[in-house]
Amino acid sequence: MSYKKSWAEPYKIKMVELIKMTTRKDRLKAIKVAGYNTFLLRSEDVYIDLLTDSGTNAMSDIQWGAFMTGDEAYAGSKSFFKMEAAIQKYYGYKYIIPTHQGRGAENILSKVLIKNGDIIPGNMYFTTTRLHQELAGGIFKDVIIEEAHDPLNEHPFKGNVDIQKLHQLVQEYGSAKIPYISVATNVNMAGGQPISMANLRELYAYTRQHGIRIIHDMTRVAENAYFIQKRETGYAHKSIAEIVKEICSYTDGATMSAKKDALVNIGGFLATNEWDVYEEARNLVVVYEGLHTYGGLAGRDMEAIAIGIQESLDDNHQHARVGQVEYLGHKMMEYGIPIVKPIGGHGIFVDAKSFLPHLTQDQYPAQALAAEIYLDSGVRAMERGVVSAGRNENGDNYYPNLELVRLTIPRRVYTQAHMDVVAESVASVFQKRKTIKGLKMVYEPKYLRFFQARFEKL
Ligand code: F0G
Repeated sequence: MSYKKSWAEPYKIKMVELIKMTTRKDRLKAIKVAGYNTFLLRSEDVYIDLLTDSGTNAMSDIQWGAFMTGDEAYAGSKSFFKMEAAIQKYYGYKYIIPTHQGRGAENILSKVLIKNGDIIPGNMYFTTTRLHQELAGGIFKDVIIEEAHDPLNEHPFKGNVDIQKLHQLVQEYGSAKIPYISVATNVNMAGGQPISMANLRELYAYTRQHGIRIIHDMTRVAENAYFIQKRETGYAHKSIAEIVKEICSYTDGATMSAKKDALVNIGGFLATNEWDVYEEARNLVVVYEGLHTYGGLAGRDMEAIAIGIQESLDDNHQHARVGQVEYLGHKMMEYGIPIVKPIGGHGIFVDAKSFLPHLTQDQYPAQALAAEIYLDSGVRAMERGVVSAGRNENGDNYYPNLELVRLTIPRRVYTQAHMDVVAESVASVFQKRKTIKGLKMVYEPKYLRFFQARFEKL
């Protein structure tokens, strides 16, 4: 037996950010003012912020150093060419369009590829991705394997596409109606669950036969590669960088939120291997984001992304990154807290349906639980259930099987002791779970309601 199991970080701390400590009384006031929506809290009222891993990463000293070298030219910025070269080198895509963040790329891509009434299959939805598909006239269809909808199923690749489900769509609508399938790596809404290389390879072969593109939501591709390295036969001796490059090689283009894997606070891009798609997207980016050599980003942001991409592919970095998430997950399991399994790449997803079995989904169990965790300790999580799922084109609520609270871990930000505090806090809420009441929605925005909806206690 080896004692050497540590996932300890391959970096040390050079600067710290002080956090304000609050009392339960302060937090009670804050969560009421926020309408029981953790998105509406002020961050200064939060102790450990696990709302999201998006844009909340700590940059390295090398990234901060590069900030000073950003070329802020309006056109033809040197920093753009560095970012473009990094994307081409590490991901292998040909044509690159920078955008201010992932959804900027989703907007442009959807407008370029989707015609009214088109069908867009995907391995589970993501909120902004599906909305842009719908706003462009598309209809989203979930083709993820059934196991992904079961929080307890321990399938090692719950992000896999069910090719039979895709085939049924092709038979029903015809491949001409399906401009692309949207394939996310490390599927966020399923709990940070990976897709296997074998599944991707099979999907690639299938889509070649039917003339359907694969558009890769590569927001967390390096985390997916880590799981392939650990779980898939034949990959144990390949580097994360090699695995990422292979994943991208089975896809035709990508949208990326660099705010996650790529270790920056803002940025994204659209990538494609097709000249025509690039041409059209380059026309549109000027309308929505900015010139095609900055797309809403400062030169310094593009410098930091170029370096962040490279740092994200370091095997030791991913080992520590996912290791920390697994540490928290195991700790919570020891307390008997029901979480999505296997433990995902970017956070722990608490199963609110089994945590609060006395609440119906219309009483927003995950929303109520996130508010309760904040109240207990100042740890901020977010709802990923019926509120996030929103409504379909007829205005009916989607009722996702997964009703989850996501405790998302920013990269390189918190310590193991912080993870202990989080686990202890959720455990203390778990102890008094029977006393937790549901919520009713008193304000519902039209789009992406989870961001700004307000609630009252039942
Ligand atoms: N795709 C995935 C899988 C995402 O997780 C996100 C963002 C986006 C696209 C959109 O990118 O935010 O840069 O516009 N997810 C964040 C989250 C918001 O908290 O999970 P964006």
